[in-house]
Amino acid sequence: MRTTFINPILSVEQLEISSHVMEKPSPIVKDVTFQLYSGEMLALTGPSGCGKSLTAQAVVGLLERECKVTYGNIYYKSENILDYDVKSWQMLRRSDIALLIQHSLNGLNPIRTVKKQMVETMNQNKKWPRKEGNIYLHSILHQVGFSDPDDILSAYPFELSGGMRQRVLLAMMISLKPKILIADEPTTALDVINREKVLTLLKELQYKFEMAILLISHDYENINKYADRVIKMDQGGSII
Ligand SMILES: Nc1ncnc2c1ncn2[C@@H]1O[C@H](COP(=O)(O)OP(=O)(O)O)[C@@H](O)[C@H]1O
Ligand SMILES: [Mg+2]
Repeated sequence: MRTTFINPILSVEQLEISSHVMEKPSPIVKDVTFQLYSGEMLALTGPSGCGKSLTAQAVVGLLERECKVTYGNIYYKSENILDYDVKSWQMLRRSDIALLIQHSLNGLNPIRTVKKQMVETMNQNKKWPRKEGNIYLHSILHQVGFSDPDDILSAYPFELSGGMRQRVLLAMMISLKPKILIADEPTTALDVINREKVLTLLKELQYKFEMAILLISHDYENINKYADRVIKMDQGGSII
């Protein structure tokens, strides 16, 4: 049975993103409109280059400098976040909307242990006393399927497989308890077994934390299995 979701937590309306590399800004993505409801997993698909990643970056205020939103609105819980200043965006990313970026398998610092990196992320929101922080770290690593968190915490990223690194990154995001998780092609770099594992995990986290997930993916077979709803962007942006 599929659940019906009623409250939009995120509403993207007629979003247009333009590149300012040339003198006259030219739209790269146009007329992107969709709603993400509280607690649902929405899959966003579409051909390579249609603007999925740019849309995700726009939602968390992380577009590269040469790209700007030139039309439309993005509402998070009925606030237009396009009006936000740098500080408000930072707060939003820390406590409300997490983005697991594409190619994030390389997103861990190679010369620092997992523990150091996780503690740093966790402490962005509130300073955790050492002991409580440790307990929390262990529980979060358990949630993402590590039965022996100590081994993972003391490891350097190169000692972990791609699937494990992906789960560590997910654990980092989850530790901030976001209301929305945007996962930009989280399984593309993984083999079939790890794809299923990561998607099953996302599904579990969706339910456990009542988190809305925007899953950007090409993996049509799995999308239909895991997502509550699927939308497709065509070349240039419009949702079809
Ligand atoms: N920083 C940028 N400056 C200019 N063009 C960009 C930039 N990033 C992406 N693009 C272009 O915008 C289009 C959409 O890119 P992207 O959002 O990465 O697509 P998708 O994630 O759907 O594969 C592509 O044509 C890409 O070349
Ligand atoms: Mg992309």
